[in-house]
Amino acid sequence: MTQFTHTTKSRERWSTQLGLILAMAANAVGLGNFLRFPVQCANHGGGAFLIPYFIAVILLGLPLMWIEWGIGRFGGKYGHGTTPGMFHYLWRHPIAKYIGAIGIAVPFLLVIYYNYIVSWTLAYSVFSFTGKYAGLTSFEGMSEFLAAYQGKVSNAHFPTIATAFLFFLLTHGIMMWVVSHGVTRGIERLVRIALPLIIVFGVILVVRVLFIGTPNPAHPENNIANGFGFLWNPNFSVLKDSKVWLAATGQVFFTLSVGVGAIQTYASYLKPKDDVVLSSIATCATNEFCEVILGASIAIPVTFAFFGLAQTRLIAAGGAFDLGFFAMPIIFQQMFLGQFFGAIWFFLLFLAGISSTVAMVQPVMAFLQEEFRMTRKSASWVVSVMVLFFSFPVIFFLKHGFLNELDFWVGTFGLVVFAIIEVLIFLWVFGERRAWKEINSGSEIHIPRVVIRIIKYVTLAYLVVLLVFWFAQDGISFLLMKNVPREDFPYVWFARFMMLAVSALMIFLVHLAWQRKRRIRQRMPD
Ligand code: ALA
Repeated sequence: MTQFTHTTKSRERWSTQLGLILAMAANAVGLGNFLRFPVQCANHGGGAFLIPYFIAVILLGLPLMWIEWGIGRFGGKYGHGTTPGMFHYLWRHPIAKYIGAIGIAVPFLLVIYYNYIVSWTLAYSVFSFTGKYAGLTSFEGMSEFLAAYQGKVSNAHFPTIATAFLFFLLTHGIMMWVVSHGVTRGIERLVRIALPLIIVFGVILVVRVLFIGTPNPAHPENNIANGFGFLWNPNFSVLKDSKVWLAATGQVFFTLSVGVGAIQTYASYLKPKDDVVLSSIATCATNEFCEVILGASIAIPVTFAFFGLAQTRLIAAGGAFDLGFFAMPIIFQQMFLGQFFGAIWFFLLFLAGISSTVAMVQPVMAFLQEEFRMTRKSASWVVSVMVLFFSFPVIFFLKHGFLNELDFWVGTFGLVVFAIIEVLIFLWVFGERRAWKEINSGSEIHIPRVVIRIIKYVTLAYLVVLLVFWFAQDGISFLLMKNVPREDFPYVWFARFMMLAVSALMIFLVHLAWQRKRRIRQRMPD
């Protein structure tokens, strides 16, 4: 037999079903749940946003989860934890493995900017606890604090970018330390602590928020009940706007981490008869709890209670960072035990973020370990250096729009492109019937065949329409750098070059890995 048997036997497995669900849920639960979702909701019709949002969960999110879990477990049976090997077995065509390289390039590119943002949350948790931003009670003050931290300006708090860089190195070290301990001893251990803590901290903060009442008696209309009203009172007229549908769908992709390539790797550590259908539903439900119940009940309602309607609208329009890094620290300073609540808010974000980044870095780890036979230790060093190397431009060119450019093409566009490819390969090439059997195998509840057919046509059509609309609405202006100042053009081009270079590097590595395997096979006696 070939090396594949050996690989399959020596592959790691999740130690329990609970560990697996916690890991998958922790992969999904991230900054998107606590910062991005409330902002999207507030900006796009409040309660009405939930209509396109849940339609996208049902028509795209959950079906894509089933597909990715199915592909992942299938690949694991052949000893492959990443999409080049998975696609190779799903579609016996020489090009399949190269297309699969996207499933390593996307999470790798995501991790290099997402992890930098995660490091800010760790830093802010420490700053909250130690009172470093104490006394900065204006928006301008907090905005300058963040800008100086990021190295965009220099001030007495942060003369240089050194603090941000140190926190980045620390976060990077934690992430790599976790994955270097493997699936059960590293990732599973982390999520067994992180996910329950995220929920406990989330509940503590929600309870605190519920008891905020009316912080400023001079403005009785600014109270927590009206804060929830602001977020949830539906404005159905927005549903006529395609932007709202795109925003809802984008949020679903981001929050469930579908189209990334990370779910497939985690699912490859399933046993062949582990449940895919019910476990995906459990993961999705946990994520929605953390997003719609916890995430939405913290930042926006409390911002409303402290700042009132007009300001909250402006903050939400400013985006997730304005809400998380400007408004919240000001609010914590006005709260009893604010240093403590601020520290747990940012530490919650850190835990949510780091448990997503370990999932994003695991595909490239698995790829090097399995396709190049590297030991876990060597793979960790190689990946660590690669991630550091490509993170530097994100850190040092932040003010030139480097991160934004990556986020649009990878974190928004790339996910949809990869999702389309997966549906085509799994349902159209591998085949509807085989895919249906593969997903249902070992599952407590069975997905009816008609659901697979709906995914094959409706989900695919939805994805293609989404991509076309996105491109027409935002893609063209991004491509033509319509909102980029002239002096930043070289940096944006550099970001594009880097994305292409990383993709080319992954394709090249796939090529090398398969050449290596061919040589080994040729040397082996029959
Ligand atoms: N799913 C992760 C998040 O929501 C990426 O942040």
